[in-house]
Amino acid sequence: MNDKFLEGKGVLITGGASGFGRGFAFAYAQRGADLILVDINEELLEETSKKVENETSQRVVPILCDVTKSDQVLEMAKQAFKEFDNIYILNNNAGGGFGFYDITRVKEDIFDKTIALNLKGQWLVAKEIGRRMKKQNFKPLAGKVIHTASIAGVRVDGGTPIYSISKAGIIAMMQLFAQSLAPKITVNAISPGYHLTGAYKNNLDAMKLTMDEGHVKTPLNRYGTVDDVVNVSIFLASPASNFITGHNFIVDGGIAETGVPAYYFKSEI
Ligand SMILES: NC(=O)c1ccc[n+]([C@@H]2O[C@H](COP(=O)([O-])OP(=O)(O)OC[C@H]3O[C@@H](n4cnc5c(N)ncnc54)[C@H](O)[C@@H]3O)[C@@H](O)[C@H]2O)c1
Repeated sequence: MNDKFLEGKGVLITGGASGFGRGFAFAYAQRGADLILVDINEELLEETSKKVENETSQRVVPILCDVTKSDQVLEMAKQAFKEFDNIYILNNNAGGGFGFYDITRVKEDIFDKTIALNLKGQWLVAKEIGRRMKKQNFKPLAGKVIHTASIAGVRVDGGTPIYSISKAGIIAMMQLFAQSLAPKITVNAISPGYHLTGAYKNNLDAMKLTMDEGHVKTPLNRYGTVDDVVNVSIFLASPASNFITGHNFIVDGGIAETGVPAYYFKSEI
């Protein structure tokens, strides 16, 4: 495969200022893509955009947008297609959780905020970008959409029930977009496990505590990295995955897939 397989292609990443989004940005720019980074955190968005542009010499356009707001998403999509003549890859990635609660006690505002950010936000973005992407004339595919879901959407997590509901919803939504946008666009999801990002304020102790409280053990005996997820995203963005659509790729060191209790493993983490 050509190392610069994204040359001449535009990539739009939501939640592009931090964590996985930032990792995707560097990886795609290194493969020749120009980028639109979308985020709600203005300072971090500017910082990441400048850093990626300086280090890769690709064009990086930051767009401040709250993905939960349909008017802002519409404006963002229009601006993106004004800046670039194509958006070939959409990484629909912005998301997060709002604390730990039992499902019988969680407050209504937490439910609303979580569903708005993870589920409605990704729906609004996929809808606005997907419709425009479909009109592109690239062959054999007009574009590719990659959602960030979570293992919490595959194996429900009682500590973060609404986050689990929202991420299970993303997996269903990804399959619906895969049906609707076929045969011109592939749509897949990546479900990470536990990876050190802004979600844990980049603090390993905070992530360890979350794993301990959830009795999580990792069969492959190490913590997840941003690169573990970025590597799968590069595959999904590349021609090597052109015949794959409607799939959820779990990237978690074996936590969700193996289905045996935590005490079964001899791993320390
Ligand atoms: N870190 C993990 O272990 C893990 C595991 C499973 C899934 N995920 C998912 O990965 C995705 C990326 O998160 P991350 O771990 O890189 O965390 P992160 O906090 O580093 O990045 C998330 C980014 O999204 C942005 N964002 C938040 N709300 C927004 C909004 N309303 N509009 C636009 N941007 C917004 C934040 O400002 C931030 O830059 C999320 O969907 C998260 O649920 C993370």
